Amino acid sequence: KILILDFGSQYTQLIARRVRELNVYCEIYPYNNVPELTDEVKGVIFSGSPCSVRDAEHPSIDLSQFQGKVPVLGVCYGAQLMAFESGGEVTPSTIREYGRARLTEIHNSDRLLKELTIGSVVWMSHGDTIYEIPDSIEVIASTDSVRVAAYKFRDHETYGIQFHPEVTHSDEGKTLLRNFVVHICGCVQDWTSEQFIEATVADLQQQIGNDKVVLGLSGGVDSSVAAMLIHQAIGKNLYCIFVDNGLLRKDEFETVLDSYKHMGLNVKGVDSKNRFYDALAGISDPELKRKAIGRVFIEVFDDEAHQIEDVKWLAQGTIYPDVIESMSVKGPSATIKSHHNVGGLPDFMKLKVVEPLKTLFKDEVRLVGKTLKIDDTILGRHPFPGPGLAIRILSDVTPQKVAILQQVDHIFISNLKKTGLYDEVWQAGAILTPVQSVGVMGDERTYEHVVALRAVTSIDGMTADWSRLPYEFLADVSNEIINKVKGVNRVVYDISSKPPATIEWE
Ligand code: XMP
Repeated sequence: KILILDFGSQYTQLIARRVRELNVYCEIYPYNNVPELTDEVKGVIFSGSPCSVRDAEHPSIDLSQFQGKVPVLGVCYGAQLMAFESGGEVTPSTIREYGRARLTEIHNSDRLLKELTIGSVVWMSHGDTIYEIPDSIEVIASTDSVRVAAYKFRDHETYGIQFHPEVTHSDEGKTLLRNFVVHICGCVQDWTSEQFIEATVADLQQQIGNDKVVLGLSGGVDSSVAAMLIHQAIGKNLYCIFVDNGLLRKDEFETVLDSYKHMGLNVKGVDSKNRFYDALAGISDPELKRKAIGRVFIEVFDDEAHQIEDVKWLAQGTIYPDVIESMSVKGPSATIKSHHNVGGLPDFMKLKVVEPLKTLFKDEVRLVGKTLKIDDTILGRHPFPGPGLAIRILSDVTPQKVAILQQVDHIFISNLKKTGLYDEVWQAGAILTPVQSVGVMGDERTYEHVVALRAVTSIDGMTADWSRLPYEFLADVSNEIINKVKGVNRVVYDISSKPPATIEWE
């Protein structure tokens, strides 16, 4: 495998994804918490960083633990750091370089640059530049404005590159990474979903033996794939619980429960709608809603888990980005919303935790799901927040408001599906606002709710843009909603991007 040391760059995760796309396994660690080098580690990549080696407090590591032992590739800051520590000089660039540049010279068709071509676009994003290098280092490529665009240490397989091969704007970035990972480090490209499943199922069998495992299904991709993997390992000893919190989409509980049963899962559907509605009564504050829902979920789950005799394990669908975030250089990012189920269930459950997806990125989870033959209707689903429709009903939640919003959402989503737009959108939903406005229906004045439609494109939900849905489509959906849903007389479309807005309204 490849180790990626994170110095805080926004692109670190991308490096990992690119390496995985080469079917090579890799792991990210913060630079200040590096595991010991084992035989399994075939190479190390240093990421970029928002810091400068010229700062007294710059992030640094003991290079001798890697250099000469395994091949090393420093990207941007990583390259500057190694050059600096070896006696080179790093200065502020006279021009800050952001964006496209072209390789104008490849001085040495070294293994790293094999098959790279003159004129190839490379993506630059740096404020510092490597000005002088010591004799121990040779320059292997340049651009017009950056002499040391790529270098190699003469005595060992240590490379530095000023540009970012991991971003798609770097034409031959993938070739460069392949050269490093496959040809220089000697990694075998055998990290596939089939291989992952085989190894994980074997590990799970070893780890769990004949114990019983409980897992909370949500209808989403992660928990479903986690369930199918564990199911493959231990069969009926996996007890799945799917809770109807009364905040799901229209008919979702029934249809999803049905697909789970078809998949052969041992799943119990628990109707706890009223417990959730009772706990939410009168609460308007979004964070209090989340807390109430989280609390009731744990209560329900705990009640159910206690009914499984002698259960030893709790399975969770945690995926790699959650893990990276919880141990990142910057620490868990500041809480804007008390998101997600990170933090898990409280100690009193006293269960050991098993997380079979914790090394996978989202697209890899989907791939594994596909290989496990999980239905496309589950794998292709948009993300849906744990607190469900509660955070799309502004002000307090009542069963009546849920029923209105379910109808609106259903019309929106089924039209997206019908017109083939569903897969172009990353996430979509409707928001029931507490605003009432005047309308006219027939000869009658109405005074009813305004609903907002929200559809976004995104890669990972961290940033998002509003989807440019066709006007005709919006017109049809709006008509259908106003004609069919009692209690709604006005539809608006949310055209805010994230940031500065967020995807959900609460
Ligand atoms: P925001 O609104 O922060 O949402 O732009 C980003 C993504 O996170 C989802 N989301 C949540 N998911 N519990 C969840 O499990 C939550 O409390 C929660 N709040 C937002 C949101 O749907 C989007 O996919």
